[in-house]
Amino acid sequence: MTETAIAKRTVLVAGATGASGLAATRALVGAGARVVAVGRDARRLTPLVSLGARAEVCDLTSEQAVGTLAGRLHDDGIRVDGLLHLVGGWRGGGGIPGQSDEDYRFLEQSLTALRHVTRTFWEDLVTAPAGRTAIVSSTAVARPLAGGANYAAVKAASEAWIHALAHGFARAARDAGSPMTAAAVIYRVRALAEREDDLARAYVSLWDRPADTVNDSVVELDEA
Ligand SMILES: NC(=O)c1ccc[n+]([C@@H]2O[C@H](COP(=O)([O-])OP(=O)(O)OC[C@H]3O[C@@H](n4cnc5c(N)ncnc54)[C@H](OP(=O)(O)O)[C@@H]3O)[C@@H](O)[C@H]2O)c1
Repeated sequence: MTETAIAKRTVLVAGATGASGLAATRALVGAGARVVAVGRDARRLTPLVSLGARAEVCDLTSEQAVGTLAGRLHDDGIRVDGLLHLVGGWRGGGGIPGQSDEDYRFLEQSLTALRHVTRTFWEDLVTAPAGRTAIVSSTAVARPLAGGANYAAVKAASEAWIHALAHGFARAARDAGSPMTAAAVIYRVRALAEREDDLARAYVSLWDRPADTVNDSVVELDEA
Protein backbone atom coordinates (compact mmCIF):
# COMPACT_ATOMS: atom_id res chain seq x y z
CA MET A 1 0.00 0.00 0.00
CA THR A 2 1.40 3.39 -0.93
CA GLU A 3 1.69 6.41 1.30
CA THR A 4 -1.01 8.11 -0.68
CA ALA A 5 -3.50 5.31 -0.21
CA ILE A 6 -5.30 7.45 2.35
CA ALA A 7 -5.83 10.22 -0.21
CA LYS A 8 -9.52 10.55 -1.11
CA ARG A 9 -10.51 7.97 1.52
CA THR A 10 -13.40 9.11 3.72
CA VAL A 11 -12.96 8.88 7.47
CA LEU A 12 -15.78 9.31 9.95
CA VAL A 13 -14.41 10.84 13.13
CA ALA A 14 -16.94 9.93 15.80
CA GLY A 15 -16.87 12.38 18.69
CA ALA A 16 -14.73 14.84 16.75
CA THR A 17 -15.14 18.01 18.80
CA GLY A 18 -12.38 17.48 21.38
CA ALA A 19 -8.65 18.14 21.03
CA SER A 20 -8.02 14.64 19.65
CA GLY A 21 -10.72 15.10 17.00
CA LEU A 22 -9.23 18.40 15.92
CA ALA A 23 -5.73 16.92 15.67
CA ALA A 24 -6.99 13.88 13.76
CA THR A 25 -9.05 15.97 11.35
CA ARG A 26 -6.10 18.28 10.68
CA ALA A 27 -3.81 15.30 9.99
CA LEU A 28 -6.36 13.44 7.85
CA VAL A 29 -7.23 16.47 5.72
CA GLY A 30 -3.50 17.19 5.42
CA ALA A 31 -2.99 13.67 4.09
CA GLY A 32 -5.69 14.18 1.48
CA ALA A 33 -8.53 12.32 3.18
CA ARG A 34 -12.12 13.49 3.40
CA VAL A 35 -13.40 13.79 6.95
CA VAL A 36 -16.94 13.50 8.25
CA ALA A 37 -16.76 15.03 11.72
CA VAL A 38 -19.55 13.91 14.03
CA GLY A 39 -20.61 15.42 17.34
CA ARG A 40 -23.76 16.43 19.14
CA ASP A 41 -23.21 20.18 19.11
CA ALA A 42 -23.20 22.08 15.80
CA ARG A 43 -21.29 25.02 17.31
CA ARG A 44 -18.44 22.80 18.51
CA LEU A 45 -18.15 21.32 15.01
CA THR A 46 -17.44 24.71 13.41
CA PRO A 47 -13.63 24.55 13.84
CA LEU A 48 -13.65 21.18 12.08
CA VAL A 49 -15.51 22.65 9.13
CA SER A 50 -12.83 25.35 9.00
CA LEU A 51 -10.28 22.53 8.64
CA GLY A 52 -12.20 21.15 5.67
CA ALA A 53 -14.40 18.51 7.31
CA ARG A 54 -18.05 17.88 6.62
CA ALA A 55 -19.86 18.36 9.92
CA GLU A 56 -22.66 16.06 10.99
CA VAL A 57 -24.68 16.54 14.15
CA CYS A 58 -25.68 13.17 15.53
CA ASP A 59 -26.15 11.55 18.91
CA LEU A 60 -24.32 8.31 18.22
CA THR A 61 -25.97 6.58 21.18
CA SER A 62 -29.21 6.65 19.16
CA GLU A 63 -29.38 3.74 16.73
CA GLN A 64 -32.04 5.58 14.75
CA ALA A 65 -29.96 8.76 14.52
CA VAL A 66 -26.93 6.77 13.28
CA GLY A 67 -29.15 5.14 10.64
CA THR A 68 -30.36 8.57 9.53
CA LEU A 69 -26.76 9.82 9.39
CA ALA A 70 -25.75 6.88 7.18
CA GLY A 71 -28.73 7.56 4.92
CA ARG A 72 -27.75 11.22 4.55
CA LEU A 73 -24.16 10.33 3.64
CA HIS A 74 -25.15 7.57 1.24
CA ASP A 75 -27.72 9.84 -0.44
CA ASP A 76 -24.85 12.26 -1.06
CA GLY A 77 -22.73 9.47 -2.55
CA ILE A 78 -20.42 9.26 0.47
CA ARG A 79 -19.26 5.88 1.69
CA VAL A 80 -17.14 5.62 4.82
CA ASP A 81 -13.74 3.92 4.47
CA GLY A 82 -12.40 4.56 7.94
CA LEU A 83 -13.68 5.21 11.42
CA LEU A 84 -11.83 6.89 14.26
CA HIS A 85 -13.95 6.48 17.35
CA LEU A 86 -13.26 9.16 19.96
CA VAL A 87 -16.47 9.23 22.00
CA GLY A 88 -15.24 8.83 25.55
CA GLY A 89 -15.04 10.61 28.84
CA TRP A 90 -13.98 9.57 32.32
CA ARG A 91 -15.84 9.20 35.58
CA GLY A 92 -14.69 7.32 38.62
CA GLY A 93 -13.06 7.46 42.01
CA GLY A 94 -14.25 6.24 45.39
CA GLY A 95 -12.85 2.72 45.10
CA ILE A 96 -15.17 -0.19 44.30
CA PRO A 97 -18.11 1.18 46.36
CA GLY A 98 -17.86 4.42 44.37
CA GLN A 99 -18.48 2.73 41.00
CA SER A 100 -22.00 4.08 40.58
CA ASP A 101 -24.56 3.02 38.01
CA GLU A 102 -24.88 6.64 36.96
CA ASP A 103 -21.17 6.81 36.09
CA TYR A 104 -21.35 3.40 34.41
CA ARG A 105 -24.26 4.55 32.23
CA PHE A 106 -22.29 7.65 31.24
CA LEU A 107 -19.16 5.66 30.34
CA GLU A 108 -21.11 2.96 28.54
CA GLN A 109 -22.32 5.53 25.97
CA SER A 110 -18.93 5.23 24.27
CA LEU A 111 -19.39 1.49 23.71
CA THR A 112 -23.00 1.94 22.60
CA ALA A 113 -21.90 4.55 20.06
CA LEU A 114 -19.12 2.25 18.82
CA ARG A 115 -21.57 -0.63 18.37
CA HIS A 116 -24.06 1.55 16.50
CA VAL A 117 -21.52 3.08 14.13
CA THR A 118 -19.71 -0.16 13.26
CA ARG A 119 -22.95 -2.07 12.74
CA THR A 120 -24.58 0.66 10.66
CA PHE A 121 -21.49 1.34 8.53
CA TRP A 122 -20.35 -2.32 8.40
CA GLU A 123 -20.99 -2.67 4.68
CA ASP A 124 -19.03 0.54 3.95
CA LEU A 125 -16.12 -0.45 6.19
CA VAL A 126 -15.79 -4.03 4.98
CA THR A 127 -16.04 -3.19 1.28
CA ALA A 128 -13.81 -0.10 1.40
CA PRO A 129 -10.82 -0.28 -0.97
CA ALA A 130 -8.67 0.71 2.03
CA GLY A 131 -10.40 1.06 5.38
CA ARG A 132 -9.11 1.50 8.90
CA THR A 133 -11.15 1.54 12.09
CA ALA A 134 -9.60 2.50 15.42
CA ILE A 135 -10.58 3.20 19.00
CA VAL A 136 -8.64 4.82 21.81
CA SER A 137 -8.61 2.51 24.78
CA SER A 138 -6.68 2.81 28.01
CA THR A 139 -3.75 1.23 29.78
CA ALA A 140 -6.36 0.67 32.53
CA VAL A 141 -7.56 -2.41 30.63
CA ALA A 142 -4.27 -4.19 31.36
CA ARG A 143 -4.07 -2.77 34.89
CA PRO A 144 -7.51 -1.85 36.20
CA LEU A 145 -7.63 0.21 39.39
CA ALA A 146 -10.47 0.07 41.93
CA GLY A 147 -11.42 3.72 41.42
CA GLY A 148 -11.62 3.22 37.66
CA ALA A 149 -13.36 -0.18 37.59
CA ASN A 150 -16.37 1.08 35.60
CA TYR A 151 -14.08 2.79 33.11
CA ALA A 152 -11.76 -0.21 32.69
CA ALA A 153 -14.74 -2.54 32.26
CA VAL A 154 -16.23 -0.41 29.47
CA LYS A 155 -12.85 -0.02 27.74
CA ALA A 156 -12.27 -3.79 27.96
CA ALA A 157 -15.68 -4.38 26.38
CA SER A 158 -14.85 -1.87 23.64
CA GLU A 159 -11.61 -3.70 22.96
CA ALA A 160 -13.54 -6.99 22.73
CA TRP A 161 -15.87 -5.36 20.19
CA ILE A 162 -12.88 -4.26 18.08
CA HIS A 163 -11.33 -7.75 18.21
CA ALA A 164 -14.67 -9.10 16.97
CA LEU A 165 -14.76 -6.47 14.21
CA ALA A 166 -11.23 -7.48 13.21
CA HIS A 167 -12.39 -11.08 13.01
CA GLY A 168 -15.32 -9.97 10.88
CA PHE A 169 -13.01 -8.14 8.47
CA ALA A 170 -10.67 -11.14 8.19
CA ARG A 171 -13.52 -13.59 7.71
CA ALA A 172 -15.21 -11.45 5.06
CA ALA A 173 -11.98 -11.30 3.05
CA ARG A 174 -11.44 -15.03 3.45
CA ASP A 175 -15.01 -15.83 2.37
CA ALA A 176 -14.64 -13.57 -0.68
CA GLY A 177 -11.24 -15.06 -1.51
CA SER A 178 -9.85 -11.50 -1.65
CA PRO A 179 -6.98 -9.76 0.10
CA MET A 180 -7.99 -7.89 3.25
CA THR A 181 -8.64 -4.20 2.72
CA ALA A 182 -10.13 -3.32 6.09
CA ALA A 183 -8.45 -3.39 9.48
CA ALA A 184 -9.46 -2.67 13.07
CA VAL A 185 -6.94 -1.39 15.59
CA ILE A 186 -6.87 -0.56 19.29
CA TYR A 187 -4.73 2.27 20.63
CA ARG A 188 -4.05 2.22 24.34
CA VAL A 189 -2.94 5.35 26.12
CA ARG A 190 -2.65 6.40 29.76
CA ALA A 191 -3.42 10.08 29.20
CA LEU A 192 -4.22 11.70 25.88
CA ALA A 193 -3.45 15.31 26.75
CA GLU A 194 -0.60 16.50 24.51
CA ARG A 195 -0.55 13.11 22.76
CA GLU A 196 -3.33 14.08 20.34
CA ASP A 197 -0.93 14.67 17.45
CA ASP A 198 0.79 11.33 18.12
CA LEU A 199 -2.58 9.60 17.92
CA ALA A 200 -3.44 11.46 14.72
CA ARG A 201 -0.13 10.52 13.10
CA ALA A 202 -0.44 6.89 14.17
CA TYR A 203 -3.97 6.65 12.77
CA VAL A 204 -3.04 8.26 9.44
CA SER A 205 -0.01 5.97 9.12
CA LEU A 206 -2.26 2.89 9.33
CA TRP A 207 -2.95 3.41 5.64
CA ASP A 208 0.78 2.98 4.88
CA ARG A 209 0.65 -0.69 5.85
CA PRO A 210 -1.33 -3.60 4.41
CA ALA A 211 -4.58 -4.28 6.26
CA ASP A 212 -3.65 -7.81 7.29
CA THR A 213 -0.49 -6.60 9.05
CA VAL A 214 -2.33 -4.13 11.28
CA ASN A 215 -5.71 -5.81 11.71
CA ASP A 216 -6.50 -6.84 15.30
CA SER A 217 -3.44 -5.11 16.73
CA VAL A 218 -3.17 -3.38 20.10
CA VAL A 219 -0.81 -0.42 19.97
CA GLU A 220 0.52 1.13 23.18
CA LEU A 221 0.68 4.79 22.16
CA ASP A 222 2.90 5.69 25.13
CA GLU A 223 5.54 3.30 23.76
CA ALA A 224 5.09 4.09 20.07
N1 LIG B 1 -8.39 11.94 27.61
C1 LIG B 1 -7.57 10.97 28.03
O1 LIG B 1 -6.61 11.16 28.79
C2 LIG B 1 -7.82 9.56 27.55
C3 LIG B 1 -7.08 8.49 28.07
C4 LIG B 1 -7.30 7.22 27.55
C5 LIG B 1 -8.26 7.03 26.55
N2 LIG B 1 -8.98 8.09 26.11
C6 LIG B 1 -10.00 7.88 25.10
O2 LIG B 1 -9.64 8.62 23.94
C7 LIG B 1 -10.84 8.96 23.22
C8 LIG B 1 -10.80 10.47 22.93
O3 LIG B 1 -10.65 11.15 24.14
P1 LIG B 1 -11.22 12.62 24.32
O4 LIG B 1 -10.86 13.04 25.71
O5 LIG B 1 -10.87 13.44 23.14
O6 LIG B 1 -12.78 12.27 24.24
P2 LIG B 1 -14.04 13.05 24.78
O7 LIG B 1 -13.72 14.50 24.86
O8 LIG B 1 -14.57 12.39 25.99
O9 LIG B 1 -15.07 12.75 23.61
C9 LIG B 1 -14.88 13.29 22.34
C10 LIG B 1 -16.15 13.96 21.87
O10 LIG B 1 -17.20 13.00 21.74
C11 LIG B 1 -18.39 13.73 21.61
N3 LIG B 1 -19.51 12.89 22.04
C12 LIG B 1 -19.78 12.47 23.29
N4 LIG B 1 -20.90 11.72 23.28
C13 LIG B 1 -21.33 11.69 21.98
C14 LIG B 1 -22.44 11.09 21.33
N5 LIG B 1 -23.34 10.38 22.02
N6 LIG B 1 -22.58 11.27 20.00
C15 LIG B 1 -21.69 12.01 19.32
N7 LIG B 1 -20.61 12.59 19.88
C16 LIG B 1 -20.44 12.44 21.20
C17 LIG B 1 -18.22 14.98 22.51
O11 LIG B 1 -18.53 16.12 21.77
P3 LIG B 1 -19.96 16.86 21.82
O12 LIG B 1 -20.25 17.10 23.28
O13 LIG B 1 -19.67 18.11 21.05
O14 LIG B 1 -20.93 15.95 21.18
C18 LIG B 1 -16.71 14.99 22.80
O15 LIG B 1 -16.11 16.23 22.51
C19 LIG B 1 -12.00 8.55 24.14
O16 LIG B 1 -12.51 7.31 23.71
C20 LIG B 1 -11.37 8.40 25.49
O17 LIG B 1 -12.04 7.50 26.35
C21 LIG B 1 -8.77 9.35 26.56
